[in-house]
Amino acid sequence: MFRVLTIIGARPQFIKASVVSRAIKETDGIEEIMLHTGQHFDANMSDIFFNQLAIPRPDIQLDIHGGSHGEMTGRMLADIEKALMEHKPDRVLVYGDTNSTLAGALAAAKLHVPVAHVEAGLRSFNMKMPEEINRILTDQISDLLFCPTNTSVRNLENEGFASKPTKVIQVGDVMQDAALLFAEKAAAPAGGELPEEFVLATLHRAENTDNPQRLSNIVLALNHIHRNVSPVVLPLHPRTRKLIAEQGLELDVRLIDPVGYFEMVWLLDHCQLVLTDSGGVQKEAFFFGKACVTMRDQTEWVELVEVGANELVGADRQKIVHATTNNLGRRVKDSDQLYGGGEASQRIVDELVMASS
Ligand code: UD1
Ligand code: UDP
Repeated sequence: MFRVLTIIGARPQFIKASVVSRAIKETDGIEEIMLHTGQHFDANMSDIFFNQLAIPRPDIQLDIHGGSHGEMTGRMLADIEKALMEHKPDRVLVYGDTNSTLAGALAAAKLHVPVAHVEAGLRSFNMKMPEEINRILTDQISDLLFCPTNTSVRNLENEGFASKPTKVIQVGDVMQDAALLFAEKAAAPAGGELPEEFVLATLHRAENTDNPQRLSNIVLALNHIHRNVSPVVLPLHPRTRKLIAEQGLELDVRLIDPVGYFEMVWLLDHCQLVLTDSGGVQKEAFFFGKACVTMRDQTEWVELVEVGANELVGADRQKIVHATTNNLGRRVKDSDQLYGGGEASQRIVDELVMASS
């Protein structure tokens, strides 16, 4: 039996791993051990996804969160190394670009356990982003790179991967698999009526929340939109809640606590527009046929901008308001299957099995 040890720790990774984990269960000759670093730990940032998406309980549960980047990543590295020495997997599987991703890949590579990276090749070309550092380094020390898009493959080619022994495979996007699989489970968030028509907003990216000027611009833009353009529903990430309070800002929109995936799917399905700085939510807007306004200066999902589904507005107050007003209610269509069409998880598992023989 070929044994894969999956390392996850942050909200988007639970959603991505849920579909791959299902495919592993349905495939002969491969078994999975799950390690949760503890990076996200609130019930509505972690447990809820395990319950809703029927993800197996982690076999190894660490409790590492908070602190500086170096401290968090270093503590994870030490504990993951111990777990790998104990469980002796044949391969490690990591997702995305968080500190849990890098710590997992690095611990494995140092022990000569081969690493597979899901969401390989994405680049913002902004080395100030912790995610950019994490994903570049993870790609360098993985031997199986599962790319979601044409662009991600091209990025790796441009970095010289074509002449390396590393296998680069375009499998599509596991988040599309999840959106398709769980769309029918959509459930309205509990805790009070929501407006009939609304903009769905999310906000947590460090480059916005940790920069007082950017955060203040965004808060002013959201308040303006909520009062004058359309009600804004914002499931607030704990990081942002903390920083808004610390800076004494008033966010005057319909704030709700972070929601589970089924509620998020409902919000995506019912909203008039998505306004976000999330990576995953930009694509989910597209999967649910909604235009997206992205409050970042770059995106890794450049194809969405190219097809006119996504507008990048940075943290510029006026641009955020204008783009939201102009795109409100606009529907977009995935005519080119930019993200593979929902087959990514099975392709990944097939490749894992193939690489094991
Ligand atoms: C992390 C990832 C980011 C990803 C995001 C998904 C890194 C460097 N960043 O950012 O790429 O987009 O997850 O949501 O890995 N907190 C809680 N409860 C929780 C989780 C977080 O209170 O369950 C608070 C804590 O104060 C914590 C802060 O949020 O210090 C930031 O959490 P952290 O995991 O460091 O970064 P995220 O902003 O969540
Ligand atoms: N999400 C969720 N509940 C929320 C906010 C987001 O289930 O309250 C989901 C969202 O649908 C997507 C994933 O979490 O699947 C994205 O996570 P996040 O925006 O935190 O991280 P990123 O994708 O930016 O790394």
